[in-house]
Amino acid sequence: MVMKCPACGKDCVKIAEDILANIDREYMACRDCAPEPNLDKSRPLRDLPDELQRCHSCGKATLDAVMLDALHILAEFGLRDDGETLRSVGSPLIAVGYPLAYSPRLGPRSLIIIGERLGRQAAEAIVERIPEIRGVIHSRGVPGIRGSLTMPNENVLLAGCDLRADVVQSLFGELVIYKSQSKVHIEFSRQSSPKMKILEQLYIQGRIRDVTDGLSGPGTLGLMCALAGAKRIVLNDAWSPAVQNIILNLKVNKKLLGIEQIEYLEEHLERIKAPANYVGFEPMLVCRASGKCDIEVYHGDLGRLFSKARPTELCLIDHFPGADTKELEKACRCCKEIVII
Ligand SMILES: C[S@@+](CC[C@H](N)C(=O)[O-])C[C@H]1O[C@@H](n2cnc3c(N)ncnc32)[C@H](O)[C@@H]1O
Ligand SMILES: [Zn+2]
Ligand SMILES: [Zn+2]
Repeated sequence: MVMKCPACGKDCVKIAEDILANIDREYMACRDCAPEPNLDKSRPLRDLPDELQRCHSCGKATLDAVMLDALHILAEFGLRDDGETLRSVGSPLIAVGYPLAYSPRLGPRSLIIIGERLGRQAAEAIVERIPEIRGVIHSRGVPGIRGSLTMPNENVLLAGCDLRADVVQSLFGELVIYKSQSKVHIEFSRQSSPKMKILEQLYIQGRIRDVTDGLSGPGTLGLMCALAGAKRIVLNDAWSPAVQNIILNLKVNKKLLGIEQIEYLEEHLERIKAPANYVGFEPMLVCRASGKCDIEVYHGDLGRLFSKARPTELCLIDHFPGADTKELEKACRCCKEIVII
């Protein structure tokens, strides 16, 4: 089943079961695919081929073929000279992130490029002329907010769509977590991620029952706790684009999470969709889900969350590396236990 993409209106969003059913084969070569060209990523454009063919049988492209096309278009728009390399194009993000042991073979709209020195017109040409590219993002650093009262940083979607997903794996199962990648920070899907190891440990010890994911971003940890069998989850983030991603992720993973009903607090949701209200302070309940687990989604400062939400047994605090969590920890002491991720 395909859902309308909230970012671009096209068919970027599939439900989790459908993605998980096919993900093993998604990026595989067919038996007619030519071997990976393995171009030297630091070779100058003048020494690179003009083009690399897609497979005549399955139609998929190698990553090198797509990045080479993008480099040629950037050169055509005067944004790269012939001494620049494939690496200079930027970072490729596969539209469904999944840990791969090999370089992916790409189908239509399966790659987002994030980088610097990418103009809008060139980006539009890239999306229009390279079928595998879903979107092009100009990077200005880590997007989002470091605290509820700090200035937010956003990257710029130059063309196409910025919505992509990561498959999150753990010993209690998998979920699909969508992220608006120009507004929410990038965290690659990987096997045995240290964060999942912490959740798995808590799970084995029977401590995932009633959990707050206080800085939840798109909802990764809180929703994994719901999958692990928690009876109540409180998700919170002060950055509206992340909260909007949580709501999409509830819908996408509805069946896997045993959700029966999702209730939206429409008035609050409309409010946080306005860019002027992206950074939240006073916590506001924007969505509730019920079924196997009761889930509440708040937009606001974690330092004030428990003036609105009932405290939980366990509170997870997953801040950006190096951020000071002392004040937040103090504010969450009403929960029985705090775990810094
Ligand atoms: C490292 S990210 C969380 C990643 C998330 N747990 C995941 O696994 O996808 C930190 C998050 O904290 C949020 N944040 C920072 N300060 C906050 C505050 N005072 N209150 C609420 N959210 C805050 C940011 O918007 C960001 O989404
Ligand atoms: Zn889209
Ligand atoms: Zn093929």
